[in-house]
Amino acid sequence: MKNRNILVTGGNRGIGLAIVKELAKDKENTVLLGCRNIEEGSAMAAELGDNVHGVGLNLSEREDLASSIKDILERYERVDVLINNAGVLHEGSFLEVDFEKFDESYRVNTLAPLELIRAFVPGMKKTGYGRIINVSSGWGSFDEGLSGPFSYSFSKAALNALTLTVAKDLPKNIKINSMCPGWVRTRMGGMMAPRSPEEGADTAVWLANLPTDGPLSRTKTNHAATAMIPKGRPAKSRTTR
Ligand SMILES: NC(=O)c1ccc[n+]([C@@H]2O[C@H](COP(=O)([O-])OP(=O)(O)OC[C@H]3O[C@@H](n4cnc5c(N)ncnc54)[C@H](OP(=O)(O)O)[C@@H]3O)[C@@H](O)[C@H]2O)c1
Repeated sequence: MKNRNILVTGGNRGIGLAIVKELAKDKENTVLLGCRNIEEGSAMAAELGDNVHGVGLNLSEREDLASSIKDILERYERVDVLINNAGVLHEGSFLEVDFEKFDESYRVNTLAPLELIRAFVPGMKKTGYGRIINVSSGWGSFDEGLSGPFSYSFSKAALNALTLTVAKDLPKNIKINSMCPGWVRTRMGGMMAPRSPEEGADTAVWLANLPTDGPLSRTKTNHAATAMIPKGRPAKSRTTR
């Protein structure tokens, strides 16, 4: 599809910003850089090119999100590619984590992606084209032992479940996939991580550009990267993913 509107949540830093930069290289794309601080996001978007626009997107509150979705649809009509990248990671086992942090993890990592998907799928159905990418984590993978902090593993596993269950109700021309970027040097991943934000972004960019015969409703882990990640819960001073 030509002239796609692409929304990247958490597009102002880390992996999200690297995804925005890469997808903006194709000037036929209009890339919406989702951010909480719209002044900073808009300034960043202006530096990246005419086809990048900052859009205010706070995923922590359902009402705020609903109003941002309304604004996006009024201004841009539709979102053809949705990249649910924004995420939070709070430390602690299920006995340690406080419920406010748990609520925030579940809202930002799982429920907000669902609400965004529901908002934009009707437009995708109308055009007959859609790509949805959920940026998940190896720590949300049953195969890899759900080995991250409780609220993070729980919410990312739920995001993977969401990907597979939502796929059942989508037509074949709307592709939804879940992926792990590997361990990446960002605010969340820390400076010890082996992968650059650009390397962390590459799977999401590939999935955003999937051709019509590309895979649907898969969860993809970057094994090359996850192989380098020590298993088990990191020490407090260690970086996280
Ligand atoms: N880095 C890794 O090693 C790694 C590994 C596996 C998976 N991931 C996943 O990759 C994604 C991106 O992570 P990252 O490493 O780039 O992290 P990051 O540098 O901490 O960036 C997180 C992004 O999410 C946004 N965000 C957080 N809470 C939000 C909220 N309530 N509303 C709107 N935006 C919110 C942040 O906005 P602000 O700037 O306003 O805070 C920021 O743009 C996440 O889903 C993460 O779980 C990362």
